Amino acid sequence: MKVLVTGGLGFIGSHLVDQYIHNGYDVVVLDNLSTGALSNLNPDARLISMSLLDVTLEECLRKEKPDIINHHAAQVNVRNSVSNPIYDVETNLLGTVRLLQAAGKVGIKKFIFASSGGTVYGQTPKIALPETFITKPVSPYGINKLASEFYIDFYAKQYGFQSIILRYSNVYGSRQNPASESGVVSIFENRIRNGLPPIVYGDGKQIRDYIHVSDVVAANILVSQLESLPHEILNVGTGKGTSLNELLALFYRLYRGSKPPVYTNAKAGELSFNVLSINKLTSLGWSPKISLEEGIIQLSQEHD
Ligand SMILES: NC(=O)c1ccc[n+]([C@@H]2O[C@H](COP(=O)([O-])OP(=O)(O)OC[C@H]3O[C@@H](n4cnc5c(N)ncnc54)[C@H](O)[C@@H]3O)[C@@H](O)[C@H]2O)c1
Repeated sequence: MKVLVTGGLGFIGSHLVDQYIHNGYDVVVLDNLSTGALSNLNPDARLISMSLLDVTLEECLRKEKPDIINHHAAQVNVRNSVSNPIYDVETNLLGTVRLLQAAGKVGIKKFIFASSGGTVYGQTPKIALPETFITKPVSPYGINKLASEFYIDFYAKQYGFQSIILRYSNVYGSRQNPASESGVVSIFENRIRNGLPPIVYGDGKQIRDYIHVSDVVAANILVSQLESLPHEILNVGTGKGTSLNELLALFYRLYRGSKPPVYTNAKAGELSFNVLSINKLTSLGWSPKISLEEGIIQLSQEHD
């Protein structure tokens, strides 16, 4: 099986590439290095240094002939999508549509997409959200992820390939770039480790569903292996909510004597609650293996 991983030099994509290689897949990475790092490239994977928007994308896919495309390349910063929505449309929506069009023409078996359970649903009640919950994104990032899901469905039917949409909650783990401002776990970890106080926007009571990158990778491998799936859209989270204050408490247990957090004004439009129901994915035999506490201990050890 040959798989092309877009965004395979990034945080999640590079862990995914490692696991595909480990499982014996032939792996090609397509990445433009905008936020990804060459140091993340698995030595057994081949890199095509190219943007999704490159006019030679179709030619490239025709040459590579992947069976599976696993699409992780994106602009991942929600706040950037608000300040620069055109860039988000170009990278996340247009880039996805170009990839789908090329994939359809060339002929692939399966298309897997990294969508966002943290943004496609919008403001929600305090329940673990099933995939059927109404989608009402409140950011350009969420709008473009949702629009991409519709395009994937359209092209999958048009060209007859299998499509799987994985809606991730808040993913954390090694290689997440604290400078990208999109992963609060890596941002807190980085500041505390460097003797700086973590900054909390609002009262710290906002609740999120934090999932370790290895569990996200395991979900991707599972859907890569299944020939048919009863569901096309699957949440990938833990089903458990943790407040920012609780997250900080976990850090302070590990990094004793660290500077206390600084609380500042809440960010306009920030969701107060986002937790995903994972019943569909667990019914396929997957379950999250790493607790938040274990994941944070692992992170701290990696930096020892
Ligand atoms: N990190 C999370 O918590 C989270 C949550 C939900 C969904 N996702 C999605 O998972 C995917 C991976 O996110 P990540 O956190 O690993 O981010 P990341 O920034 O580490 O990885 C994104 C990768 O895409 C590449 N890229 C960006 N634009 C490109 C383009 N035009 N052409 C080719 N490559 C391009 C970057 O160089 C980078 O290597 C993204 O689609 C993101 O939206 C992430």
